[in-house]
Amino acid sequence: MTDTLSADQLAIRDRARALATEVIAPRAAEVDRTEEYPWDNVAALREAGFTGMTIPTELGGPGRSFLDAVLVIEEMAKVCGVSGRIAVECNMGAISAVMAYGTDEQRKLAADLVLSGDKPAICITEPEAGSAASEMTTRADQRGSSYVLNGTKHWITGGGVSRLHLVFARVFDEAGEEQGIGGFLAIRDETPGLVYGLREPTLGLRGIPEREVIFEDMIVESDMVLLPPSGFRRGFADLMNAYNSQRVGAGTVALGLAAGAYELALDFVKEREQFGRPIAEFQGLQWMLADMSVKLEAARSLTHRAAASRGPNGSPFPDPTLAAQAKIFTAERAIEVVNDALQLFGAAGYSRRNPLERMLRDVRMFTIGGGTAQILRTVVASRILDMKLPQHRGGFLPRGD
Ligand code: FAD
Ligand code: COA
Repeated sequence: MTDTLSADQLAIRDRARALATEVIAPRAAEVDRTEEYPWDNVAALREAGFTGMTIPTELGGPGRSFLDAVLVIEEMAKVCGVSGRIAVECNMGAISAVMAYGTDEQRKLAADLVLSGDKPAICITEPEAGSAASEMTTRADQRGSSYVLNGTKHWITGGGVSRLHLVFARVFDEAGEEQGIGGFLAIRDETPGLVYGLREPTLGLRGIPEREVIFEDMIVESDMVLLPPSGFRRGFADLMNAYNSQRVGAGTVALGLAAGAYELALDFVKEREQFGRPIAEFQGLQWMLADMSVKLEAARSLTHRAAASRGPNGSPFPDPTLAAQAKIFTAERAIEVVNDALQLFGAAGYSRRNPLERMLRDVRMFTIGGGTAQILRTVVASRILDMKLPQHRGGFLPRGD
């Protein structure tokens, strides 16, 4: 796929690679150890023009393509998974939903925030509604021109550091009639009733907090309601459509981690000697490396194809199946590649002095967050079979015996 990149895209990738090598990489181990959000990396990304890359020009952004953003994300993730993830959420996810469905004022607000380096938070998951996201119970009750939100989300990336929050909630009108699922915009330190709970102690990607986000009679005025054109009834489907690009972005972080691990392993096998020869001379290891390269090339091609299929920010994601396929394949192959890279290092790979143990912890998340590999297979199956595949118990037909 590299061959099909334009000169401009190759230049962006090279610029991202230089920033990653010179500025991001030296801080990666410390970010992991201290578990502190890397505000300095955010500033470096912002100064390089890598936050808000997909914001349209009329809103002050560079109006770049999703594939351009993917090229940057991979370079960051090669050296620091946390910075890769920040680059995803400054370009995709909540920001895509606001660009697609927001009013002019909402789009301007969100654009200004990401262009200044804010990594928006997307609040979908609840303690009792993970994969079954549409069973969320956070509610938004209409009261005149505003909505009052109550409920608890958990595992919210950026909880406590993000300013813009896109909150999914079940909407009820003044008569208490359910209207569907809608999106509500809240701003840290500005929206009353937006409260942060416990931080999760995570396996990897420790430089970004995952937290409970709680809505205690949180007031959202109607001008901060994100209402897709088809209304709340189709709100969930429309909001999930805008989320597809984040799935491609998340897969790209996994790809970057795997590519970084592979490059480390390639160098190591040429240097490390056993039995009087570089271990690169053993055919068993050569075939491992060959398989790793095949997985990376295939994952990168699929990821780029999914990213390139996406029109400008604000347009619908054309094929949710492709986004799910890209995330499933890339995340699973990436975990294998990082694991194999660590194996090639022997004990040195198992040491905390070596970045591979961090990369393995980091990459492990991508078959879970953003839709598990199992749920995404159901998304794919439902579309290739052209069948609704309800997963709740009542959705199954009795066998009839
Ligand atoms: P469950 O849904 O309880 O699933 C448990 C297991 O059962 C999984 O293996 C799952 O695949 C399987 N399973 C469930 N249902 C089915 C089925 N029908 N068929 C087959 N298998 C099934 N959420 C947000 O809203 N915002 C965020 O910013 C965010 N960030 C996250 C960051 C990290 C690091 C992680 C780990 C999670 C994050 N999440 C976030 C939450 C994430 O989206 C959920 O973890 C995910 O959707 C799965 O939900 P769950 O953890 O409750 O697992
Ligand atoms: N893109 C576009 N539309 C989507 C979509 C996506 N990624 N996911 C769901 N939809 C649409 C469906 O097509 C359906 O529309 P339809 O009524 O026209 O067919 C509608 O949303 C409801 O989807 P359905 O599969 O019937 O919902 P469900 O109640 O069975 O829930 C999901 C299943 C969609 C929630 C589940 O597949 C899912 O994605 N879970 C993971 C949640 C997640 O990614 N969380 C990440 C938080 S960061």
